Amino acid sequence: ARKIIIDSDPGQDDAAAIMLALGSPEELDILGITTVAGNVPLALTSRNARVVCELSGRPDIKVFEGADKPLLRQLVTAEHVHGKTGLDGPVVDEPTMPVQEQHAVDFIVETILAEDAGTVTLCTLGCLTNIALALQKAPEIAPRIRELVMMGGGFFEGGNITPAAEFNIYVDPDAAKIVFASGIPIVMMPLDVTHRVLTYKHRVEKIRAIGSRPAVAMAEMLDFFERFDIEKYGSDGGPLHDPTVIAYLLRPELFKGRDCNVEIETTSELTVGMTVVDWWQVTGRKHNARVMREVDDQGFFDLLTERLARL
Ligand code: BDR
Ligand code: CA
Repeated sequence: ARKIIIDSDPGQDDAAAIMLALGSPEELDILGITTVAGNVPLALTSRNARVVCELSGRPDIKVFEGADKPLLRQLVTAEHVHGKTGLDGPVVDEPTMPVQEQHAVDFIVETILAEDAGTVTLCTLGCLTNIALALQKAPEIAPRIRELVMMGGGFFEGGNITPAAEFNIYVDPDAAKIVFASGIPIVMMPLDVTHRVLTYKHRVEKIRAIGSRPAVAMAEMLDFFERFDIEKYGSDGGPLHDPTVIAYLLRPELFKGRDCNVEIETTSELTVGMTVVDWWQVTGRKHNARVMREVDDQGFFDLLTERLARL
């Protein structure tokens, strides 16, 4: 199975991503889940990561706590989308499984140095602070990373926290800049993809109908999560961003994109956090990411539903 570290700020859609990975043990070996402040402050994202593991019957998964704020800026959170806990929707028990003592950044560095070069994949579902800190601490990890698959950015679709910026990049653009300059092979799932993956009622009902505790909790999270987005986008169902990252590892053929140069805006007041994607290859700048643009959305939901049923 492919070795992955999931770096996350759960978040209902982060929860869906984690459950999709937990439901796919044949393909994916989760070395650890690292948490970062983002959707809600760090104490809550760490709680929520453990809630999701316990809901999925996997209290054995190792959860490591990472950065509680961006590299240089004040933390921006998104309770308006995810609710006060970050995981509003289902009624859940407080987790009893522990947070590991090791800091997430140290775990990331040590793991990548300890595993064979080219075998560890990073899946990032929040801002990129932990990864940037790991790269600053141990730049020699960069060429050892097999791939970094991220949910972040947007180009033709624009932004969701400002007209220009997607939330994960906006929260810590300085970290994103470091990651995009690192030489790590990056696969980017931007809003251009995730805004096509909509939680239509019949899709959520199919998940609820699985009937298991994790599946019903997932359906309740999606009920909550989409409320905000349906109002915002006027669509019949909200976008389900983060599980596209895990779906890509399981079924890459569900997605289409191309290799591009991507630069991160960090100074402009108006467009800070923008991912400037050279989709039409007009700059001649070096490719540093495979940027996805199309998705087989029904294929994605079929996969998600099938794997949730295995939990
Ligand atoms: C991203 O922002 C967060 O609110 C979601 O969990 C997702 O990772 C979407 O812009
Ligand atoms: Ca997230």
